[in-house]
Amino acid sequence: MAWSALVAPRPVVMLSTVNGDGVPNIAPFSSLACLANVPPMVGLSFGERQSGVKQTLANILANGEFVVNLVASGMRDAMIVAATPTPVADDFTRLSLTPESMETVSCSRIAESPASLACRLIKTIDLSPAKVTYVVAEVLEVVVDDAFGSSGAFAAYDANLVASLGIEDYVTLQGEPFWLARTWD
Ligand SMILES: Cc1cc2nc3c(=O)[nH]c(=O)nc-3n(C[C@H](O)[C@H](O)[C@H](O)COP(=O)(O)O)c2cc1C
Repeated sequence: MAWSALVAPRPVVMLSTVNGDGVPNIAPFSSLACLANVPPMVGLSFGERQSGVKQTLANILANGEFVVNLVASGMRDAMIVAATPTPVADDFTRLSLTPESMETVSCSRIAESPASLACRLIKTIDLSPAKVTYVVAEVLEVVVDDAFGSSGAFAAYDANLVASLGIEDYVTLQGEPFWLARTWD
C-alpha cells in the first residue's frame, strides 16, 4: 500500500511552467500545501525520476516562476495525459488547453482552470535521503474564474475540484469517485 493514500483527499493541481526557450510545460501534482498567509506562500514536493529532475522542477529552478492551476472535474482527461512524461513540446497545444497570460509571471495560466496562483520561487529544500526537492514559493497573483469567485470567496464545491485519494483513485468535491490508470513516473 502506498502510505500517501492515508493523507487523503489531496487537492490535484496542474503546474504550468516555461523552459528557457519559452516552451510551456504542464503536469499534475498533489502535494500542494498552504504554508503562510502574509505573504501567501505555498509548498510542493517533487520526486526525482531515474532519468533525473522532472521538467516542471527544472523549469522552476531555471526561471523561478510557475502557475498553480486548480483542476476541475472536466479537466481530468487532460490532467492524466499531462502526467505522462513526453519530449519537450507546447503542452497547451498537446492537451488542447487554452493559455491565458498572467501579470506577474511569464508562464500562462490554464484558462479552463477555475482558479490559478502565479508563484515565485523563494527556496528549495533537499529532502535527502529521499530523492525529493521541496519548493517553497510566494503567491504573487490570484486569478479566479468569475463563475466561482464572488465577495472575496471561492466556491470550491461549485467548481467541482478533483482530489487524489492515493495513486489511481480520485474523487470530485461533489462526491463522484473515479479511477485513472497511472501513466507517470
Ligand atoms: C494526480 C497526480 C498527482 C501527482 N503529484 C505529484 C507530486 O506531488 N510530486 C511529484 O513529483 N509528482 C507528482 N505526480 C507525477 C507527475 O505529474 C509526473 O511525474 C509528470 O510526468 C511530471 O511531468 P514533468 O516532467 O513535465 O514535470 C503526480 C501525478 C498525478 C497524476
